[in-house]
Amino acid sequence: MSKGKLIIFDTTMRDGEQSPGASMTKDEKLRIARALERMRVDVIEAGFPASSNGDFEAVRAIANVVKDSTVAGLCRANDRDIQRGIDALKGAKSWRVHTFIATSELHMAKKLRMTPEQVLAQTKLSVRYAKNACPDVEFSPEDGSRSDPDFLCRVLEAAIQEGATTINIPDTVGYAVPEQFGEMIRSLRERVPNSDKAVWSVHCHNDLGMAVANSLAAVVIGGARQIECTINGLGERAGNTSLEEVVMALRTRKDFFDLETRIDTTQIVPTSRLVSQITGFVVQPNKAVVGANAFAHASGIHQDGVLKARETYEIMTAEDVGWSTNRIVLGKLSGRSAFKQRMKEIGIELESEDAYNKAFQRFKDLADKKAEIFDEDLQALVAQEAGASADEHWRLVTMNQASGMGEKPHATIVMAEAGKEKKAEAQGDGPVDATFKAIESVAKSGAELLLFSVNAVTQGTESQGEVTVRLSKGGRIVNGVGADTDIVVASAKAYISALNKLASKIERLNPQHGL
Ligand code: KIV
Ligand code: ZN
Repeated sequence: MSKGKLIIFDTTMRDGEQSPGASMTKDEKLRIARALERMRVDVIEAGFPASSNGDFEAVRAIANVVKDSTVAGLCRANDRDIQRGIDALKGAKSWRVHTFIATSELHMAKKLRMTPEQVLAQTKLSVRYAKNACPDVEFSPEDGSRSDPDFLCRVLEAAIQEGATTINIPDTVGYAVPEQFGEMIRSLRERVPNSDKAVWSVHCHNDLGMAVANSLAAVVIGGARQIECTINGLGERAGNTSLEEVVMALRTRKDFFDLETRIDTTQIVPTSRLVSQITGFVVQPNKAVVGANAFAHASGIHQDGVLKARETYEIMTAEDVGWSTNRIVLGKLSGRSAFKQRMKEIGIELESEDAYNKAFQRFKDLADKKAEIFDEDLQALVAQEAGASADEHWRLVTMNQASGMGEKPHATIVMAEAGKEKKAEAQGDGPVDATFKAIESVAKSGAELLLFSVNAVTQGTESQGEVTVRLSKGGRIVNGVGADTDIVVASAKAYISALNKLASKIERLNPQHGL
């Protein structure tokens, strides 16, 4: 008999989005939501609706399309935030209001400037308010792992009394250590009256690299039955508990954990790749489960062992987590229906026929340059399409660049601003530098370049280069992604995509910045 089910709560689009530079547009969030639903995540935290009109709309759009996962929204413990959350979520088939307030002495005194009694009163009011509209309410005492246990018990008792159905204990600053944290959850569950009326959950940050270990300790020692996590471990500072690591640990060591999740693990790698493409956060090669080297065997002894019996050096298979081996799927002669069919098979659904037509045209352009088109190429193509559709203030019309040994690289660019073409030329230290200077001489954004990264989409020199450009201006940080077989063109596309995001002026609050 199994010990039961563990709920996987994904917060890639809320806590993950709080990483500097990881902000997502509505379309990007919709694509991630569909991937998470396909992966059969139980709860998708789609955002923080009161943080901006843009995030409100994104959460609302996700609530309206997702049918097989519960959609949650984060709300600070006040009526306005909670009402915004309710308004954004109420169209969903299954929805959850997640409200939180800090309970550690430090946060209450310095950040909230509230007394413990005020925090207790606010907890009651906010859970009551949420419960009036929604049967599924989650309450989190922020900085829970550093809160006084006696006070925490009073707050959690009140939250359950007011109707909270999930109690989530955050290790907000990644301070916990596994055994102690597991014990803490066990003791809270034992001490809080009616603790069995709620599902106990944990939300761990990775500042000391222990988020996954702390989450699993909370499950094994403390009896938690929900883990909050993110794809690729994305999140504030050093990130959150990594979904793929938790899920594969539970599955691979079922003998030890004896718990079930409903995750379709073959969706892990495609979803990881999608999140990485959208956010520009490259997955480190040696990252567990989703890193490029996670299943690569370099030493002769290991290779020999794996060839004789895979289990000698592999505890899970690459196929189980969705690594496909660069299959050639389409080529120049493939028609629109084969293209659409393959997109469907790898889980890419576009909004409209018009979007399919545009993507198909891009595919044809690519197939003219590249004989073999892989799944990864299709993903890059769509990532770019989605980035381009976000408020296209600037459009790349054409470009040229020349460079050679002993010559100063030179770029010419034609861009359209609201339909009006503008041309510029510039020299630079390299072809990409010259191209960016030419773009800037037209756009005059004054933005600071924070990141420029190039990745090969597939193997081989004919691969498309996928470029991420991260720009910062006036406290806002945005990412642009571009793909092309010519990496200088890919770089220009990425830069222009980032400029378009800066031009779209979405303002956003951070939930950790007080009531
Ligand atoms: O880290 C944290 O405390 C949070 C809560 C809002 C759940 O993200
Ligand atoms: Zn967090």
